Amino acid sequence: MSVTLVSLWTSLRRRFEAVGADNPVTDARMLIEAGAGVSRLDIVTDPYRELSTEQLAAVEALVIRRERREPIAYILGRKAFWNIELAVGPEVLIPRPETELLVETALDLLPSNAPARVLDLGVGSGAILLSVLAERQSAVGVGIDKSASALETAAANAAALHLDGRVSFREGDWTADGRFDLVLSNPPYIRSGDLAALAPELHYEPRMALDGGEDGLDAYRAITCALPGLLGPNGAFALEVGEGQADAVAEMAEVVGLTLMPHRRDLQGIARVLAGRGAG
Ligand SMILES: C[S@@+](CC[C@H](N)C(=O)[O-])C[C@H]1O[C@@H](n2cnc3c(N)ncnc32)[C@H](O)[C@@H]1O
Repeated sequence: MSVTLVSLWTSLRRRFEAVGADNPVTDARMLIEAGAGVSRLDIVTDPYRELSTEQLAAVEALVIRRERREPIAYILGRKAFWNIELAVGPEVLIPRPETELLVETALDLLPSNAPARVLDLGVGSGAILLSVLAERQSAVGVGIDKSASALETAAANAAALHLDGRVSFREGDWTADGRFDLVLSNPPYIRSGDLAALAPELHYEPRMALDGGEDGLDAYRAITCALPGLLGPNGAFALEVGEGQADAVAEMAEVVGLTLMPHRRDLQGIARVLAGRGAG
C-alpha cells in the first residue's frame, strides 16, 4: 500500500502520542521534512504525494530515535534561538525559549553602539553570547565553559554566524581573566535529587549543564563570588534563575556588594532573570 505525505504524518503523530512526546504533530512534520527531503509547503499543498521506499526508510530512522524520546533538536542537529540558528548535539544543552528573556535583558543593558566586552559563563552552544553579539556590532565577547566539547560547538556556531572575529572561547570554572561591561550566565540550576524524575528527553542532555548540586544553587554561589572581580566600572550582570530561586540568588548577590534591579518574569510569571550592577 502506498504511503502519502498526509498518511505518514497521521501515523507518526499517533506513534509519538503513544510514547507521550510533547509536540507530536510538529515533531512528525519536522521529521518527515528532514528524512524525506520535502518542505512544509510540499506537505500542505501536495498531501497525497507518495513517498519512495528510500524516503520512508530515512524518515523511519529518525522516528525510531524520537520514539526513544531523544530531543528533536538533537535528531535534527539544530535549534532556532532568538534571531539565530545553532548547531546542537548531546555535548550542549538545547537552548530554551525562557533564556531569550536573558538575551532581552542583556540587550537592554547594552547601549546600541558603544563598544562593550561581554562575558558568558557556561556558554554551552553559544546561544546567549552569539545572540547578543549578532545584535550589538560593537561588542566583543568571551565564552567560558568547563566542557571542552561544548566550547568546540560554540566556536563552530560562532564561525557559522560569522561572529568568530569578535568572540573567543576558553575552558574555565565560573570565572575568567579580565573585566567586563556585561557578565551573563544561565548556569545549571536543577537540584541533583530532582534529576532522575525529569522528562526522558532531559536525560539526553549533559548532566553538567543541568545539575545545580544538592539545593540547585551551587553555581550561583561561585558566580556571585566571582562577579565583583569580573565587572568593570559601571559593569552590569544578568543571571537566569530557576523557579523559586530568585530570592536566594539575590541575597548572595547583595552579600558581595552587588546592586540589584527588579527581577524579570517570564511568560508564566516566574522570576527568571536577576540583573544588577557592580559596586564601582
Ligand atoms: C544550563 S547550561 C547553559 C548553556 C547555554 N548558556 C544556554 O543558555 O543554552 C550551563 C552550562 O554551564 C556549563 N558548566 C557547568 N559547570 C561549569 C563550571 N564549573 N564552569 C563553567 N561552566 C560550567 C555547562 O557545561 C553548560 O554548558
